[in-house]
Amino acid sequence: MPTTRSVALAALALSAALHLPPAFAAPPDPARLFTEHCAACHGGDRLGAIGPALLPENLGRLKPAEAESIIRHGRPATQMPGFAADVLDDAAVTALAAYVFTPLPAMPVWGEAEITASRILHRDPATLPAAPQHGADPLNLFTVVEAGDHHVSIVDGDRFTVLDRFPSRFALHGGAKYSPDGRFVYLASRDGWIAKYDLHSLALVAEVRAGVNTRNVAVSADGRVLMVGNTLPHTLVALDAGDLNPLAVIPVADAAGNGSRVSAVYAMPPRGAFVAALKDIREVWEIPWGEPGRFPVRRMETADHLDDFFFDPPYRHLMGASRDGRRGIVVDMDAGAMVAELDLPGMPHLGSGISFSHEGRTVMATPHLREAVISVIDTGTWTTLRRIAMPGPGFFLRGHETTPYAWGDAYMGREKDVIPVIDTRTLEIVRTLRPAPGKLTAHVEFTRDGRHALVSVMEDEGALVVYDAATFAEVARLPMRKPIGKYNVWNKISYSSGTSH
Ligand code: HEC
Repeated sequence: MPTTRSVALAALALSAALHLPPAFAAPPDPARLFTEHCAACHGGDRLGAIGPALLPENLGRLKPAEAESIIRHGRPATQMPGFAADVLDDAAVTALAAYVFTPLPAMPVWGEAEITASRILHRDPATLPAAPQHGADPLNLFTVVEAGDHHVSIVDGDRFTVLDRFPSRFALHGGAKYSPDGRFVYLASRDGWIAKYDLHSLALVAEVRAGVNTRNVAVSADGRVLMVGNTLPHTLVALDAGDLNPLAVIPVADAAGNGSRVSAVYAMPPRGAFVAALKDIREVWEIPWGEPGRFPVRRMETADHLDDFFFDPPYRHLMGASRDGRRGIVVDMDAGAMVAELDLPGMPHLGSGISFSHEGRTVMATPHLREAVISVIDTGTWTTLRRIAMPGPGFFLRGHETTPYAWGDAYMGREKDVIPVIDTRTLEIVRTLRPAPGKLTAHVEFTRDGRHALVSVMEDEGALVVYDAATFAEVARLPMRKPIGKYNVWNKISYSSGTSH
């Protein structure tokens, strides 16, 4: 029986014999190719979904030749796959690369009016109960983001039971954020929706669409303001944390008017300000939340584009990593100037860094997305104290004030199923756990008291595996649909040094 391939070859041979161009050499139709191969992740209208928007306005410093290379080879450490030549030939790749640099007939407008009109109030805030309606410790709950079927689970951190499970908007960003009292959780989805959920009544309170493509949301330490960082449009959006009404839409651009996507926005409690990392311009922005209705921007120029931040515990210094992954820089937030360079090879994932004390010094430790090491840096001298060899390049690292152990992963390596445990006193790996052999396993979070560590088996038929943090014995296993992240209320609101904020 002839295969499709042999028929195609026969047709090719025939057309060559007749000196006719082969039938499938017609110029590729990029819109059709895009719908077939790209739209599921990048949106039918190129406005983004799980993958970013692919518009000239949003491709920043990317060059068409680089876009072609990304389409052929994918992007390591992300969900962007490579397309083999028998799926997309050279002509198709070139046509698609040109297509993503073609402007849309009209850019979507998403300003204050659209944000306000999108708001949905699910519960009248006046009717919310004064006390928790469940028997669990309200400060030892976990919000678990299940990417497999776009759900969120609320887990009791003492009994390890699921108190509620509800559908989320499409593709939540992992990082759930809490109000300072731990009562409300705020969730951001890639398509711009911000949801507010009440942990007392286990109910959704309100939602608003703050952008077309969104990176993340931060909560002010006084609990009054949310700041949303968008990649489309190029804006930061301040929302009233109470009712999610917009307070301000801040255009993100440099002095010359060049717009930029926001890489991430964080809260810096001791400074009373948000700080934003910007993808396309060499600036870091500090925006205080203390003046009602006003969000003045303090711009700090940086030597490089910074993608990812870490702060020393007093929030005096910001450590940033450049996307090219070749170095890190340290910015003194008071002076607004760079004070040191960090020796950080292999794409540090500073957003997952942790702080702890080692031989009397405050150090920070960070995994690297491209090198199988954890770098341990002395935050007094900004020198590298140790490179801990890991079983593979990792994504996350977690510790807790009550335990000497820091838990990593080998997410980017070949052995994706291991959880290496490091003793922070010796900076050596003392244990390697394998909760689900052969399955991608990563992202650890401790309970409030640090006695248990929850690990994610990040597969569609995945699980949350609970370990005794001192004996490393398995205590419980909860089935979950690709639990990409889990966030303990107390560890987040107390700004535990063992977790990202
Ligand atoms: C399974 C999901 C998925 C599919 C299918 C997919 N992409 Fe992507 N793509 C992504 C993600 C996620 C990223 C962001 C990677 C990162 O974080 O750098 C990305 C990034 C890109 C980038 C780089 C954008 C930038 O700002 O640097 C280009 C260009 C791109 N994709 C083109 C395509 C094209 C063309 C197709 C179809 C032939 C396609 N992608 C199919 C998920 C996907």
